[in-house]
Amino acid sequence: MATTATMMAAKEALKIHEIVKYPDPVLAKMCAPVTVFDAALRTLVEEMFESMYVAQGIGLAAPQIGLLHRLTVIDVSYKKNAKEKLVLINPEVVETRGKQVEEEGCLSLPEIREKVRRAAWVKIRAQNERGEWFEVEGEELLARAILHEIDHLNGVLFIDLISRLKRELVLRKIKKMQKNGEW
Ligand code: NI
Repeated sequence: MATTATMMAAKEALKIHEIVKYPDPVLAKMCAPVTVFDAALRTLVEEMFESMYVAQGIGLAAPQIGLLHRLTVIDVSYKKNAKEKLVLINPEVVETRGKQVEEEGCLSLPEIREKVRRAAWVKIRAQNERGEWFEVEGEELLARAILHEIDHLNGVLFIDLISRLKRELVLRKIKKMQKNGEW
């Protein structure tokens, strides 16, 4: 009984972070490497997963909650398979292959979806929340999610990767939504 109460208290203590929207300047900054792998980092990782699920996303990078750390969480299964939960700390792209062009969205750009060209397959290395290095490979949606999230750590958004004409249309749409109080 005490265990359940304690677990519930721990669960309730997890902070749901507000997601920063474009054009907040924090989204355009280079993030700094994570150097301390402590309990606070592990709590932050849990909070990022919860914040991402609440926002109905499959990936969330630290700058999207206002933190300039090289840290991102991904779950392309969206809660269906715990094995697909990925914590990428200080991630580096090792190798990419092929290309794919698919529609992409971002929690910092709600309602905006555009086709973006990405590698079809990627191998990366990263640290986990205990600081251990590991490698992971992904293709299709997972490759897209990994590359999208690593871009965030370098201040790059998916609208930076589309044509100037399409970007202008997107920016016009955002301005209109801002004007109508929808952004
Ligand atoms: Ni994003």
